[in-house]
Amino acid sequence: TTQPPEAARLLAWYDRHHRDLPWRVSPPMRARGIKADPYHVWLSEVMLQQTTVTAVKPYFAKFLALWPTVSDLAAAPTEAVMAAWAGLGYYARARNLKKCAEAVDRDHGGRFPETEAALKSLPGIGDYTAAAVAAIAFDEQAAVMDGNVERVISRYYAISEPLPGSKPAMKAKVAALTPAERPGDFAQAMMDLGATICTPKRPACALCPFRAECRALGESDPELFPVKAAK
Ligand code: ADE
Repeated sequence: TTQPPEAARLLAWYDRHHRDLPWRVSPPMRARGIKADPYHVWLSEVMLQQTTVTAVKPYFAKFLALWPTVSDLAAAPTEAVMAAWAGLGYYARARNLKKCAEAVDRDHGGRFPETEAALKSLPGIGDYTAAAVAAIAFDEQAAVMDGNVERVISRYYAISEPLPGSKPAMKAKVAALTPAERPGDFAQAMMDLGATICTPKRPACALCPFRAECRALGESDPELFPVKAAK
């Protein structure tokens, strides 16, 4: 099948440079048909929303040790979940986590629904998490956009409209780039690129798979993107 040239180039970069993270199934494993566990993907994505990868790792391990399945988490006392979350911050996330686990257990027999639309109907799952779980765990061609992806896209296209107004146009660009095959690897590759190469300050453009086409690099200065609305 045809895919955007950017997707092919980014996936080739990801095959070499992806980060090995505990909630991921590596590209070689995926090629052998091993799928990511939706519970692991969902738990990691909720934890990663306002917290760094380094800080999340030990909490992710602790949660899986305490509650190996989403039904175990659903059955846990709320105070135990709040205590295990202590230190991660943004405690509404922990309350929503528990509510979502209860809904998956009660309404879906302990199995996560497999589409972006159905995931969005779960309590505490917003646009970002629904798209991320659908793409990474279920191979749906969903457009995943977080802060890292916004930075990559705004630079690649030198988007001059400030955030947050530029978000819908950026999401459309991400959707157009997301390939039918390996959409979850594509999403995680965009995040890795944003976290390791296309960084907010002093990006490592010489190592970037998009350096030849990046408009911000060619015509301006990547550090000037994304443009933000004056406060
Ligand atoms: N940040 C949020 N989700 C992520 C993921 N799946 N991989 C790396 N960084 C992330």
